Amino acid sequence: MAHPKSVYVCNACGATSPRWLGKCPSCGAWNSLVESVVEPATAGKNRLSGRFNALVPSAEVRPLAAIASEDVVRTPTGQGELDRPLGGGIVAGGVVLLGGDPGIGKSTLLLQALDTLQRAGLSTLYVTGEESGAQVALRAKRLGITGSQVAVLAEIQLEKIIATLAEQQPAVAVIDSIQTVYSDQLTSAPGSVAQVRECAAHLTRWAKASGSALVLVGHVTKDGQLAGPRVLEHMVDTVLYFEGDTHSRFRLIRAIKNRFGAVNEIGVFAMTEHGLKGVSNPSAIFLGQHAEPVPGTCVLVTLEGTRPLLVEVQALVDLGGPSPRRLSVGLERDRLAMLLAVLHRHAGVATGDQDVFVNAVGGVRISEPAADLAVLLAIASSLRGKPLPKGFVAFGEVGLAGEVRPAPSGQERLKEAAKLGFAHVMIPKANAPRKPGPELEGVTLHAVERVEEAIALVRGLEEI
Ligand code: TYD
Ligand code: MG
Repeated sequence: MAHPKSVYVCNACGATSPRWLGKCPSCGAWNSLVESVVEPATAGKNRLSGRFNALVPSAEVRPLAAIASEDVVRTPTGQGELDRPLGGGIVAGGVVLLGGDPGIGKSTLLLQALDTLQRAGLSTLYVTGEESGAQVALRAKRLGITGSQVAVLAEIQLEKIIATLAEQQPAVAVIDSIQTVYSDQLTSAPGSVAQVRECAAHLTRWAKASGSALVLVGHVTKDGQLAGPRVLEHMVDTVLYFEGDTHSRFRLIRAIKNRFGAVNEIGVFAMTEHGLKGVSNPSAIFLGQHAEPVPGTCVLVTLEGTRPLLVEVQALVDLGGPSPRRLSVGLERDRLAMLLAVLHRHAGVATGDQDVFVNAVGGVRISEPAADLAVLLAIASSLRGKPLPKGFVAFGEVGLAGEVRPAPSGQERLKEAAKLGFAHVMIPKANAPRKPGPELEGVTLHAVERVEEAIALVRGLEEI
């Protein structure tokens, strides 16, 4: 049989070329051509008849109100912290993409989840393209899973995987990882954008048609050798990313997109000798361990989905060279530059000749602007070499005009800080409760409206 034909399609303008080219001849975009399969001839015939059929409505048009909405049925995975970002459990016919750095624990978590599901009576299939069956068995042993009935297939060719899926009809299938799967319809190497996209599209179509739940594992790579899972985000129903520092024990799973639940919900895990264990009360794990307050640190209450978390922000301000550096880990760098400008302009704290490093403890990534106030106070504290008072926590967004803006769900954040025994809480004025409830007893609230006010207040507290 002749090799199926493939063409190269420009990502930017859709032009096609029979060969790969560095520059699109049509729109001039660089490196935008991606291989894709040409539809077989029969499809062409259908398309022709489709043109005539186009005049005949194919499906009935109904008012929205007349269409019965279906409640999705969720099956809990047995891992509460995984169910949380999933929106309550896996959904039949739903496709989940689980991304993360190599070695962070994707295979471990999914093997644990599949085993629990299998024990709950669902048929499962684990397709491994990276490890042999023996290696998977070794991991299962390490996880303390014995006598597992999870079906394992070591295969990387798409057509064979789909054939096995069709034959086994598992209720839940895991493809670990999508970057190792290849289709022989394409000449590109496994892991290239064309292969990853094509294979994921086929698998997704299979999941929708069969009603099985499918989890695709995707590695996030920095060197661009393998196509990142980003190209798949729009295809799948739920996108989960593993984050956290591989050197620390804690791992977070964040929902970036979820057609069946809320986004930005996170699940927290700890990597142990026997696999990943959910941490159901994680609010205090991202705090540094200091016997006494140290300069350059400030605790903030961040809201991850519906759950408040206390995270320590650390800053180091030190005399820099001719072009001072601004580095941040876990926080946005552009935001840092902006905060330094606000600090200078509105509070008179100059850092123009200083290196500024900012870090969120525990490898957690914070993207919400409510972290601004804490970052700013940590920087000011490091510059002055004076610690913030013991039991101090802050949250609030800082604007370019030097104003401190309210953070969403201020009351929940306040309550969490009080629950964990923080005595000084700096909050935006708009978040201050009119009548503090009994749960805020023993907490001194410092409500501020402006950045300069916040800095002055902190200096006042240092004197005590
Ligand atoms: P793994 O699930 O293989 O990562 P990924 O699939 O995301 O690449 O996780 C591997 C890491 O986890 C590895 O460094 C060893 C560690 N680990 C434990 O600490 N405890 C365990 O019980 C297991 C199975 C792995
Ligand atoms: Mg793996």
